[in-house]
Parts: sequence; structure tokens; C-alpha cells
Amino acid sequence: MKVAPTPKRAVKFFSGEDIPLELHKVRVVQKLNLVPVERRLAAIQEAGFNTFQLGTKDVYLDMLTDSGTNAMSDNQTAAMLQADDAYAGSQSFYRLQSAVEEVFGKKYLLPAHQGRACENILSQTFVKPDSVVPMNYHFTTTLAHIDRNGGKIVEILTDDALQVKSVNPFKGNIDINKLKALIAKHGTAKIPFIRMEASTNLIGGQPFSIANMREVRKIADEHKIMLILDASLIGENAYFVKQREDEFKDSSISVILREMCDLADIVYFSARKVSSSRGGGICTNRKEYFDQMKNLVVLYEGFLTYGGISVREIESMAVGLRETTDENVISQSPSFIEYLVRKLEEYGIPVVTPAGGLGCHVDAMNFLPHVEQKDYPAGALAAAFFIASGARGMERGTVSSVRDANGNDVMADAELLRLAFPRRVFTLSQTQYVADRLNWLYQNRGLIGGIHFVEEPPVLRFFNGRLAANSDWPQKLAAKFRQDFGDSL
Ligand code: F0G
Repeated sequence: MKVAPTPKRAVKFFSGEDIPLELHKVRVVQKLNLVPVERRLAAIQEAGFNTFQLGTKDVYLDMLTDSGTNAMSDNQTAAMLQADDAYAGSQSFYRLQSAVEEVFGKKYLLPAHQGRACENILSQTFVKPDSVVPMNYHFTTTLAHIDRNGGKIVEILTDDALQVKSVNPFKGNIDINKLKALIAKHGTAKIPFIRMEASTNLIGGQPFSIANMREVRKIADEHKIMLILDASLIGENAYFVKQREDEFKDSSISVILREMCDLADIVYFSARKVSSSRGGGICTNRKEYFDQMKNLVVLYEGFLTYGGISVREIESMAVGLRETTDENVISQSPSFIEYLVRKLEEYGIPVVTPAGGLGCHVDAMNFLPHVEQKDYPAGALAAAFFIASGARGMERGTVSSVRDANGNDVMADAELLRLAFPRRVFTLSQTQYVADRLNWLYQNRGLIGGIHFVEEPPVLRFFNGRLAANSDWPQKLAAKFRQDFGDSL
């Protein structure tokens, strides 16, 4: 397998340097604060060593997520002004419906207030007690909803997909032999659907290939099993297909998006990610699926022409979806991620490769080999990086996992610090600052220790859980920062 190449459409510099160029201009800005290290230390302690609990007044670069934080385009903002306020039959909804049909090729659309609301409706409709749902990899909210309805997920990635350092361009692929074996073992009656997640989030934003999706479709057809696509990060997956899958090197992003969606019976998405706005949706060409789910939309979300989303946001979703077919728009985040990954590799910092979508994923297990997994290395690294930089990332490791029936932590497959790159939000110098502060932290990694829960919610504990440091390592780290950086922030 060959190494994923640098994006072919990147602008070449005369100097030969490989720099991602912004193909947009900044017209509306928001002031940021970079507070001193002493305040950063106090803030992370007040936040219970959980970056979800930080207030943005203390955050310099918000790299928690791309969810609802992508930059809005001028055309999206303009579209919001023409929103048609109506409980039922809003023209804004019909405009969204036609954008979904144009981009995803699906004519029936069920709106929902965000991605997990779609997962609630899909799971309540199709998952039964003892169902088995094969997928390339779970997302936290997907797992929670399938579990809530009595089902079990089975992840069937290829063996090398969880290796942090790899040259496999499609780590999000489903292992076809594992899928066949799983169907043979459980029988089709227990499998309500196969789920494929575009730019597989929790393994580092890693794409699947269309060749792989075609094979999955073939098996789904043979066994009459439904194929559901989580399209929350479909733009990035399409971009990687164009970069890395030979058959599509000259195809437009629109063609690639349609190819993927045509292979799925149902497509759902978090519009907070895919179209730079709010909301979510489930779409299909099968009226019987639409009919099976529509009553739950009315019950949980709202009337079928707004689904819990404001009409203004529906308008910006429609424009954002069409913009997802524009390579200049969707390439911005992956090319900045690729730049940061390259810099970190130069510094010898362990990081997930190939560079994926959504964010740069630092490998906390190898960054902090002296912190045992039970002491949550990814959570500790997220806290330490905030102290060192004022940038907040997200723990994607065992803190984001669950406990088993005996109350023991289910250790995550990987301990990652995710540094998200929302579309068109950060500049190159901010990206260089992140690389520089991570380099300093890596040089001082021996100072970082573990953390433990002091308050632990039973469901999705990473959102509201509170933790504490196992020693006074955060104070020592802040003191070393002051010593090395003097008066600097
Ligand atoms: N599916 C995927 C692949 C996601 O990445 C997300 C959200 C969801 C479903 C749920 O969507 O948040 O709109 O309810 N991912 C965000 C993240 C939260 O930060 O990665 P939602």
C-alpha cells in the first residue's frame, strides 16, 4: 500500500515549501484572549480536568470540536435573512430538501435537531433487543443509542486500522471477511443494518474507499441487509477519495458524494459538522423507511418541516450542504491538519498517520509512556496542553469510554488528544503556535502525571465528568512554563 500523497491541488510555493494556502478572506472576526499560564492552571482545575467544562473566556484556540464551530460563509449568512418563519410548510425547509436531493441524491428528508437525534430515531426504529450492528467504528453517541435500545455494536475494521502510525490510506474500511464471518455467525435476522461512518471520527478522522463501500453494498444486497451511512464528515471522506483513490482522481467532489450516498439505503448527518451550521437529518429514497421513522420526528424533534431546527439555520444548512461540494471549501481543514501532522512528526511527536479529517490526533499513549492507561493519558495530555498553550483539545480515549458490568473501565483502543480544525477558522501562525507549544510539552513530558474521576456520570461521562490530578504535576508544569518562557504568555 502506498503512502497517502500530499493534496494534488495544493498551491506550489516558489521556495519549495509545502504550505497550505487559505482560499478565503477574513471579513468578520472575533477577538481572542490568551490568558497567563497561572490562570490557565486555575481554569483547568476549576473545570475538573475536563476540557468540556472550560469557559471560552479562558480558551485561546478552541480545538475541542468542529461541531457547530465551522466558519460561516457570506452566502450562508445572507441566506439566513430570507428564512420563512412557519410551523408547517416553511419554504426554508423545501429549499433544504432540494439541496439534500441535489447533493446526497435522496428525496425524502426527516429533519432532526442534530446528529444524535437522528441516531435516536434510527435506533428506536430499527434496533431491537439482541440486535447486532456491524460498523467500521462507533461514534460515542451512536454506541449510546444502539445500547439504549438493547443492541450491540461490532467493529470490523481491518487489522492495521488501529495502528497509530500507518501508510494505509483507507483505515476506515470495513474488513470484508470479518463482515462475512459476522453475518454467518449471527444470521441476517439479528442484523438490522450495517453502518459505515465517513471519515471515521474516533480512529482519527480516517476515510473509507468507495471500492470498499461497493463491496459492503454487494454483501448487504446478497443478504438483504440495509446499509446506513453516517455522513457527518462526508465532505472530508470525499476529499480523501479524490486524493487517494485512483479511479476518482479526476472526479468532482459532487460526483464522489453522490457515488457514496447512492450506495447507502439511508444517509444521516450532523449538520453541525457537514454544513457548517446546526441541525441534522435522515434521508432516503425509500418511502417505507421514511414512513417508519416520521412519527418519531414529530414526537421528539418537532413538525416534519422544521425538526427542532430554526428556519434561519435550515437556510444556512442548505447553502452549507452545497458548499460541501466545493473542493476549495472542504480541503481547507484537511490541508491544515496535514501541515500540523508534518510539523509534529518533524519534532518526533507521536501522531496518528496518515493525517485524517476533523483534527490532528496526538497519540497520548506514546507521548506519555510513563502514564498507565488506567490513569487516563489522553485526558492528562489534554489538560497539560491547555496549561501549556491555552488551546483546548478533546480527550478521545478511556475517559470517553464506558465501564463494564463489574464497574471496570473498558480501556479504549487508542488514547488520543484530538485537536480539531473547524473549517476556515484558524490561521497558519496559530497552527504553528500549536506545533511549538506541543514541542515544548513533549520536551517536558516527564512532568505530566495521571488523573482520576471524582464525579462520574453514568452515561457519556466525558461531557460532564470531573477529574483531579494524581499529584501536584499540573503546578510543576505551570512553574516550568514560567521558568522557560519568562514574561511571555
Ligand atoms: N456521528 C459522527 C461521526 C459524529 O462525529 C457526531 C458528532 C455525531 C454523529 C453526533 O452528532 O453532535 O450533532 O449530535 N461529533 C462531534 C465531535 C460531537 O465533536 O466529534 P451531533
